[in-house]
Amino acid sequence: MSRHRALGKVILNGEHAVVYGVPAIAVGIDTGAWAESSPAAESTLYVRGWDITVHETMPATEEDRANEAPLGRAFRNILEETRSRQRAQGGTVTANVSVVAEADLPPGGGLGCSAAIGVAVARALEPRASADEIASRVMAWERVFHGNPSGIDAAVSASGGCVYFRRGKPMERVSLKSPLILAIGNTGIASSTKTMVEVVARQVEQKRDTTERAFEGIRVLVENARHAITAGDLAALGKLLDLNQMLLAGLFVSSEDIERMCGSAREHGALGAKLTGAGGGGSVVALAPTTDTASRIVSAWRNDGFSGFVTTVGQEPSAYTYGESSP
Ligand code: MEV
Repeated sequence: MSRHRALGKVILNGEHAVVYGVPAIAVGIDTGAWAESSPAAESTLYVRGWDITVHETMPATEEDRANEAPLGRAFRNILEETRSRQRAQGGTVTANVSVVAEADLPPGGGLGCSAAIGVAVARALEPRASADEIASRVMAWERVFHGNPSGIDAAVSASGGCVYFRRGKPMERVSLKSPLILAIGNTGIASSTKTMVEVVARQVEQKRDTTERAFEGIRVLVENARHAITAGDLAALGKLLDLNQMLLAGLFVSSEDIERMCGSAREHGALGAKLTGAGGGGSVVALAPTTDTASRIVSAWRNDGFSGFVTTVGQEPSAYTYGESSP
């Protein structure tokens, strides 16, 4: 049985604004999820760690349907999406399977846990589908958890590397002049992407001018970040992370812990730091000039009671990117 890997993601610039059509830049990280499938009489998904099994068969009664975990709907959606696309493409249609999946990312941690599980499951259903195809199938899964996802989490999880993403457009790769050394910290507070996206949606409704100005600012940051990454100007990229954090705080998606962790990262040598993902808790990303500095940042977070790890994003997308690895 093959194990299909999917990556976690770190958004460097552009979260939230990306929901409204502004571009964003994100990188895939090796911590992610895996899934394996085997033939079965009925299709089921078991997520280890969460200890939940869901079935393709719709629960029989209205009450059972109302109590069903969202994961059940997400699994049905991804199966339906996979099979209807296979039919449309005239390919072999995935038969009933028992899928087992597991994530090594914290749910609600801002690192794309649900998208990574979705991508691993979609790959287990059809291992040879392209990254773009997998990312697009996973939207049917992501909508169950996030309401109005831009698609960036699934796109980066499926493709890996450094991606310039615009909603509804094919993803574009950003080539790195030098590796990006990132310290990723977790506030320990799980946050709901759906809720945080709704926080911003309310502001779009109530304070359209202010939010549009913030989104325009983020658009400029993202374009500059793309140039900084391709030119290897890490000092500039760091400043762009800091500026993005200010604009995100203005959208009320930061928190005291996030600000504290970003401040500590800068004090310990980060070139810049910001929340990553939906905010309101979840994770922060700090860009470090060296791995020693990144380790110092993570140690400082640990001393303050937070967790963290160091990851380096290289020129080549991760080895997990296109699929299978042995268990
Ligand atoms: C979540 O990882 C990123 C958000 O921009 C939501 C989305 O793009 O779907 C907050």
